[in-house]
Amino acid sequence: MKNHFALSLGAVLLLSACSSGPEELILSEIELGKKLFFDSILSRDYSITCASCHKPEFAFADNVAKSIGVYNQAGSRNTPSAMNQTDRNFYFWDGRAETLEEQALGPIQNPVEMDLPLSIAIRRLKENETYRNAFYSIYGKAPSKDLLASAIAAYERTLETDNSPFDKYMQGTDTSLFSESAKRGLNLFNTKAKCFDCHFGVDFTGSDQFKNIGIYNGKDLNDAGRYAITGNKKDLGAFKIPGLRNIAQTAPYMHNGMHKTLREVIDYYDEPDKFIANAINRDTLLSQPLGLTEEEKKDLENFLLSLSDERFAK
Ligand code: HEC
Ligand code: HEC
Repeated sequence: MKNHFALSLGAVLLLSACSSGPEELILSEIELGKKLFFDSILSRDYSITCASCHKPEFAFADNVAKSIGVYNQAGSRNTPSAMNQTDRNFYFWDGRAETLEEQALGPIQNPVEMDLPLSIAIRRLKENETYRNAFYSIYGKAPSKDLLASAIAAYERTLETDNSPFDKYMQGTDTSLFSESAKRGLNLFNTKAKCFDCHFGVDFTGSDQFKNIGIYNGKDLNDAGRYAITGNKKDLGAFKIPGLRNIAQTAPYMHNGMHKTLREVIDYYDEPDKFIANAINRDTLLSQPLGLTEEEKKDLENFLLSLSDERFAK
């Protein structure tokens, strides 16, 4: 840490001494990844950045059901949070990428997101003095697709959160932010409401398994999810169990953005058939209504609200 600070300070002094123009100095792989994440240079018409859809103020998710990519095109799935990705084994709702590096190259090339062939992306970075210099100084090499992916992934790995009222309660560092209602909600989450059967683990992703909660009927709801990747019948309509950290910030919810509020999500789990009666292959955990009372729903919601990092506290 100290070394890094000394280096940046030295470099800043050097820069102001030679004052060689507007070029920005990028010193670390994380800084490079951050600049790339927020730069429209990676989209065909220079209009879209990763952050156009993964908005920092919404915990790096989007606040619309379907995000808009280049040429005003809407995607087919809801934008998930790009936070707390370090420990994941799979990426995307259907888990089609297995590393953050592999994931990062997807949206750049996706025709409805950034629509830029990687060869053009790399050419642009090579022709840009700031990026060319940054890649050489950090990696000793010219920009390439592997290094581009490496930089973006390095930045994403810094987007971890573990300072919510729930965390502080569990660590015993500050129990005052975790209300009695949230405590009852935590208990319901683990027992009667069965949430913990799937959403367990530090980020509540249930070791990244794929489950079908009933949002597939083969008709108007026809995203087959994991099945399209594995061809395995048991995966029909199954999606990666999403994490629940900062969930208050990332509405709307589910792979198709069908639920606008957390209360609606809870009402859904309480009785899925009220929302989707003809679901195919729904997990047996959800075969009976939960029978939650009004107060229990409120408690569960308060528990979910307690999972937001302190940086999002209003
Ligand atoms: C036009 C909107 C859009 C843009 C631009 C975009 N994304 Fe995404 N991102 C999405 C959507 C939608 C998904 C889910 C797609 C799916 O599962 O099929 C996603 C998924 C992800 C995931 C996986 C999260 C998880 O829980 O599995 C990560 C990480 C991510 N994007 C990072 C990035 C990075 C890095 C960039 C820029 C290089 C980027 N995204 C650009 C919309 C976007
Ligand atoms: C059978 C496993 C399972 C159970 C039980 C379960 N979930 Fe989920 N949860 C999932 C999966 C899988 C998704 C994504 C489904 C989709 O989009 O099709 C999800 C999505 C969510 C989302 C939306 C996340 C987002 O980013 O859009 C929330 C919130 C949520 N669950 C909370 C809960 C709560 C609260 C409970 C208990 C009442 C619960 N879950 C029970 C597997 C489960």
